[in-house]
Amino acid sequence: MDECGLVTIELTLNGGCVRLEVDPGERLLDTLRDRLGLKGTKEGCGEGECGACTVLMDGVPVNSCLVPIVQARGKRIETIESVDRAQLSALLDSGATQCGACTPGVVMSAAWVMQHPELLHTHGLRELMAGNLCRCTGYDGIIGGLAAAIEAGLARKSEGEG
Ligand code: FES
Ligand code: FES
Repeated sequence: MDECGLVTIELTLNGGCVRLEVDPGERLLDTLRDRLGLKGTKEGCGEGECGACTVLMDGVPVNSCLVPIVQARGKRIETIESVDRAQLSALLDSGATQCGACTPGVVMSAAWVMQHPELLHTHGLRELMAGNLCRCTGYDGIIGGLAAAIEAGLARKSEGEG
């Protein structure tokens, strides 16, 4: 920590290396939005309740409003800006989004599920997505779209392997 109370950290962000001087108490959400200009990640409740601010940290969904930036030191962070639009088109085209406030967080949790389809052997989709609240859609579009996106992803994977 320097005389101003700042610390230098390095992390991997959407596949690139980032080095930053930060206030240790700064939230990952604010670093992404205000310092790095990645406005796709949204703030909803700011209290870890809604999932709007979800990003992946070392491949696992976290609420970035609750993560002090120093905890991201040396980690791999993925945000909505890293997501392949084609990969999630089934989700986005299914009525899974209305006002869109929850959508970036939903997409990041969905990306996690799509990267780990084996989770579906032990958990239901609704359970896996329970950390992402949506006040508009009633969840049917989200769950249906995600199921279709997973199916399409698995089909592409088996075509690639075939
Ligand atoms: S804004 Fe982070 S969980 Fe709601
Ligand atoms: S689409 Fe509006 S909160 Fe989910």
